[in-house]
Amino acid sequence: MTRCDIADPRLAGKGKLRIEWAGAQMPVVEMISKRFTKEKPLKGLRVSACLHVTSETANLMLALKAGGADVVLVASNPLSTQDDVAASLVKDFGISVSAVKGENRKKYYDHIYAALDHKPHLTMDDGADLVSAIHKDPKKYGRHILAGTEETTTGVIRLRSLEAQGKLLFPIVAVNDADTKHFFDNRYGTGQSTLDGVIRATNILLAGTSVVVCGYGWCGRGVAAKARGLGANVIVTEVDPLKALEAVMDGFQVMPMEEAVKHGQVYITVTGNTHVIRREHFVRMRDRAIVANSGHFDVELDIESLKRIAKKVRGVRDCVEEFTLPSGRRIYVLASGRLVNLSAAEGHPAMVMDMSFANQALSAEWVSDHHGSLEKKVYRVPLEIDREIARLKLRSMDVAVDSLTPEQVRYLSAWETGT
Ligand code: ADE
Repeated sequence: MTRCDIADPRLAGKGKLRIEWAGAQMPVVEMISKRFTKEKPLKGLRVSACLHVTSETANLMLALKAGGADVVLVASNPLSTQDDVAASLVKDFGISVSAVKGENRKKYYDHIYAALDHKPHLTMDDGADLVSAIHKDPKKYGRHILAGTEETTTGVIRLRSLEAQGKLLFPIVAVNDADTKHFFDNRYGTGQSTLDGVIRATNILLAGTSVVVCGYGWCGRGVAAKARGLGANVIVTEVDPLKALEAVMDGFQVMPMEEAVKHGQVYITVTGNTHVIRREHFVRMRDRAIVANSGHFDVELDIESLKRIAKKVRGVRDCVEEFTLPSGRRIYVLASGRLVNLSAAEGHPAMVMDMSFANQALSAEWVSDHHGSLEKKVYRVPLEIDREIARLKLRSMDVAVDSLTPEQVRYLSAWETGT
């Protein structure tokens, strides 16, 4: 096994039980894992994965290993690692993990470079930090790589920027863009786990509370819908007129941030952009406002500005810091502005990660079969794989659907029949 760096191997027992618990809600990954065990489609493939180290990710790692891959795992966020899961992966399953919850920036990157020392044929990223490190020193780290996969919207945006500049060094499958990923993981997964993080950190009642959701992409829609479901008064802020219009027609109040700060009690950013909540917003918020981020990077809240203007800062609960402004008003920042769902809670439930990670496993198999004929581009998950995952998921939920009659097939392929 390559080198490992974990918090405490004694946590393995608890981690193993959690991996088992998550696995029981990941039937599609389990089916793929069983087939991989027989067919070994990834035999001899070195895989370096930079993902949130959670019990769901552990089940993906086990599926890849069952397929014959030689896998190492590092964290894609300094606060999302579940130390007990990391310990179990190393101790019980012989998978090399370098990830410690709360690791500093230096350690985070030491771990990324440890993953690259594995000389991967395949990269598996969540946010493109691994791929970005490779592109900063391609001679040193790029030589063995055949292809990659990317889990999240932010990562795909970074990859498309490399592709547009003609700098992408190998083909990468945008797992995020599969329908069975973003329609479900981004919407229902982020929706539920974000509120789970806010609630676990603060124990506030959402019913009757004004919640401002910044961003109405798939994740923002999920957060807004779940907050409304719990009785919150939800305000949406957006920059894209189309998304803003959708939010209006979905029944939310839409207004600029400048206006929203007069009303909000809880703020949740999910835009994928930087400094969405800034100094001019913080100073106008009401006393005891709660601010959290569920976008991939910790750039959405301008915490540096908040620190500069605060006259006092103190930790008041796990994952909650209180900033007192010169006006005497207090602002509570959750999880240091990092992904609140993975830092203050456990990330998306296994039931939805099942589809995301089925896409990862089948995309890994697909690129390992097809990399020779692929260009240095960002690829979609093939539609057949996407649809097959939907079929398998429905079957695992005991949901049957209809199929077209021959007459309906003919009708759909004909142009003659009209009024
Ligand atoms: N991203 C969001 N939730 C996750 C989870 N539970 N495991 C891995 N990655 C995630």
